[in-house]
Formats: sequence, structure tokens, C-alpha cells
Amino acid sequence: MKSFMIQGARILATGSAVPNSRLNNNQVSQIVQTSDEWIFSRTGIKERRLLTGDNQSIVDLAALASTKALNSTLLQASDIDLIILATSSPNDLFGSASQVQAKIGAKNAVAFDLTAACSGFVLGLVTAYQFLCSGSYRNILVIGADVLSKWTDWSDRSTCILFGDGAGAVIIQSCSKKENSILGFQLNTDGSYANHLSISYQQEVNAHPILNLYQGSFKYISMNGKEVYKFAVSQVPLSILKCLKSLNISVNDIDWLLLHQANERILNVVAEKLSISSTKIIANLNKYGNTSAASIPLALDEAIKENKISDNDIIVISGFGAGLTWGTVVLKWSSILLK
Ligand code: UT7
Repeated sequence: MKSFMIQGARILATGSAVPNSRLNNNQVSQIVQTSDEWIFSRTGIKERRLLTGDNQSIVDLAALASTKALNSTLLQASDIDLIILATSSPNDLFGSASQVQAKIGAKNAVAFDLTAACSGFVLGLVTAYQFLCSGSYRNILVIGADVLSKWTDWSDRSTCILFGDGAGAVIIQSCSKKENSILGFQLNTDGSYANHLSISYQQEVNAHPILNLYQGSFKYISMNGKEVYKFAVSQVPLSILKCLKSLNISVNDIDWLLLHQANERILNVVAEKLSISSTKIIANLNKYGNTSAASIPLALDEAIKENKISDNDIIVISGFGAGLTWGTVVLKWSSILLK
């Protein structure tokens, strides 16, 4: 979709945070019947981080990533107008963004959660872009954070090998159309395949005796890995191509391909289908596994800290996952040194 709005948006800063506790593939193989060789060859994952202990939550991770991003700008927390927390594993079903707002002292910010699983950060970025382009807000903090280890069935080897915990944040600011760095986006949903990947609510067998009301609770992640894999390698390249076409940008112009870090094989197949050199793939899932909404901002922050990305580089970002949801954002990078 092309934007017809008058203003632009630029990414001022990034930050990320992961828990200290590491779990490598050999340690996973002591919990379920698997091996380092199987996990690494099928996914590219070597280890992941887990939010262990009882004194830290997703809010702490999200706040730390946000504070790191803020500290690399001249902005104060009170300059943030809006916080969007993309997560599927909040502390509170009513939303955790307000707890992040309080923790970082962003007292002037409106804050809400956005649930779109592994596409959450892409949808958060596009949502923020709308508020900036319309002139409603000037500074927005978009966070992708998930602690799926809390929702993983640690006896299910088909899922527990994949996920890790983490948070990534970006601060986006409105700017003139000339300085705009979010060139365009393309988003999709197909709810008819929602059952391929879910953390579903399960009702108790018996109803409340007087109210005939069935209560229940959320269970563990359930995934049809093969179907999700096929969906990702078929639909993500199409979304990227549609987005590039709407912007009149050629695949050859892409400097970096930053996909949701679900499986290294998916990253490679998508790049191959688009004839993008594997040297342009940004990947860090060997260290963190699939951190869901956190994976893209976490990898972006690392790539920036490693000085991989230069001014005017075109970065193609795609998220995909439960819903099913998937989508692409194309960025033209510009580093704005505010500090
Ligand atoms: O973030 C949201 C998006 N999620 C994804 O993108 C996930 C997409 N899917 C995948 O990444 C892959 O499907 C997996 C990594 C989850 C699984 O890889 P696969 O190559 O599709 O394996 P499979 O499910 O077809 O299983 C192959 C074999 C089976 O044994 P048989 O039936 O061939 O005897 C499984 O039982 O591997 C077995 N298996 C395992 N063996 C050792 C499944 N999990 C494991 C395991 N260790 N952890």
C-alpha cells in the first residue's frame, strides 16, 4: 500500500534486552528427546535465552530495551507520546504497555498492547507510522517483546526447541517527507489457518452450576510446524515483491533482508526465491532462537551496533506467524546521531 499522507517518519534509535539465562541445545536434549545436531541442522538455533526466576517479567525486559533506545537519543522519557508494545505473552491480559510506561517514566505517553504474534513488531511499526504521518504524535516507542518460554510445553520437542525470550525497541519520530525512512508496507491476514499456530483458550469441562458459564485458561503453544513453514516460504516472498513493486524498487536495490527469526532454512529459502544473496540476510537466531515479536527489533539493534548498516541502505523487513499474519516494511536507513 502506498502512503498518500504528507509527513514522514524516521527511526531515531534502537535498543534490545535479553535475559541472562542461556539454554543450549545439549541442555534441551536433557529435557526432551532431541539433539544439538537435529535442532541446529533443522533450524540454525544453537541456544536461546530464558526469563528464569521469579523476580523479572516481560515488563522488565521491555523497559530495559526501551531505556537503551532512549539513552542513545537526546529525548527524555517524558517526550514519548505513544508506546506500542507488541507482545503475545503479556503480564496482564488487560495489557502490559502501561506498566512499561510507568517503569520508564514516560508520563506523557499513551500506551497500549498490540497482539499479532511474530508479525507484531511489523504491525506496531506500521501503526506508529500512521500516527506520525497524520501529525497526531511526534515521538513513538515501538517495542516487540515476548517470553514464550512461559507458554511453551517443555515436554513437546516439536516446539520447545524453537522459542526464546527477548525484547527490542525502536523510537520513531515524525519528520519531513524528504527525510522519510519508512518507504512503504504490505500487510496480510488469513484467519482460516489460525489453528496452525496458537495459544488457545480452553474451557473447563463443567459449567458454573448456577450461571451455565464455562470458564477456562490459556494452554501451551500448539503448532503445525510443517504447515507454518510452507506458509512462510510461499507467502513472505510474495508480500516482499508486492511491496517492492508498489514502491518501484527492484530486488537488486535491497541491501539487507531482515525476516522474523523463525528458522534459518526459512530465511535462506526466502532469499533464494527472491535471488537475494545470502550475505544480505540479517540473522541472529543461532543465539536467541525464535523470540516472536522481539526477533526483528533485536536483530535490527544488533546489526546497527555491529555497524553493518550504512546510511541510505534499503532494508526489507518481513514478519510472519500466528493469525496467520504476515507483512513487509521497507526502510531506507538514515542514522541520526542525536547524542
Ligand atoms: O514464529 C512463528 C513461525 N514459526 C515457524 O516458522 C516454524 C516453522 N516450522 C519449522 O521451522 C519446522 O517445521 C520445524 C523446525 C518446527 C520442524 O522441522 P521439520 O523439518 O518440519 O521437521 P518435522 O516436523 O517434519 O519432523 C521430522 C522428524 C519427525 O520424525 P519422523 O516422523 O520423520 O520419524 C519428527 O518426529 O523429526 C522428528 N522431530 C524431532 N526429532 C528430534 C520433531 N522434532 C524433533 C526434535 N528432535 N526436536
